Amino acid sequence: MKLIKTKAELIDALATIRGNIALVPTMGALHEGHLSLVNAARAENDLVVASIFVNPLQFADLGDCDDYRNYPRTLEADAKLLESAGVDIIFAPDVEEMYPQGTPEIWVRTGEMGAQLEGASRPGHFDGVATVVAKLFSLVRPHRAYFGQKDAQQLAVIKRMVHDLNLRVDIRAVPIIRGADGLAESSRNQHLSATDRNNALALSATLAALRERRIDLDQARAELSNSPGVELDYLEVVSPETLQPVTWPPSGPALALGAIIVGNTRLIDNMDI
Ligand code: PAF
Repeated sequence: MKLIKTKAELIDALATIRGNIALVPTMGALHEGHLSLVNAARAENDLVVASIFVNPLQFADLGDCDDYRNYPRTLEADAKLLESAGVDIIFAPDVEEMYPQGTPEIWVRTGEMGAQLEGASRPGHFDGVATVVAKLFSLVRPHRAYFGQKDAQQLAVIKRMVHDLNLRVDIRAVPIIRGADGLAESSRNQHLSATDRNNALALSATLAALRERRIDLDQARAELSNSPGVELDYLEVVSPETLQPVTWPPSGPALALGAIIVGNTRLIDNMDI
């Protein structure tokens, strides 16, 4: 396994590769969810590149915020984990390497798809995500790239970027990993007390009730916001491709997604309907 910090070294290392290359983009602080992306990539490709880069563009004020400054940076532990999962190359550039001239002039704009749901409380977030992912695609030139279904809006935005910009990469969606209690795996779960965690289960339970029992959507919203310790941000049912709301109950494939705040932690989850 090689740990590479510069674009030049990365391009050099990939120049002679003949088989299929996979990219698993991450911001580090890896957990089971990331490992499932790596395992899927390992099973389908000849060479697996994982990137670790905490991208300031996708944080508030382009990274001039506590969320960015305090984001866990655990390169040594992440590298060990990735090596044992069979990653061939870790690309872990610093900010100056990715953005040598500071904030880029040219960005990928994600429009309405990126402005709603998560984007409503994080303006510009998905433009930052799409911009860095486009840069990573251009450097690694992967045949396949792996994203978790947990971040359903991110996945939809990346798929749409690939379609709209004719990028030649196959986007693979990897299913959500859940704990035995049903909570979706997330690096934020470590901030939950035992009571918080128990309260947070209301979100996955509501999504499951929508999927399995088709309960009324307004009633689901009301029950979730009255659930102990839960502050509801949104609960929506949308088209998985466009993220536009669909009528409830849906007549075709739909995605129910929600965001709640429990304690000081914001959690998201989603289920196919
Ligand atoms: O999902 C993430 O960790 C990030 O948004 C990504 C895709 C690595 C881009 O910085």
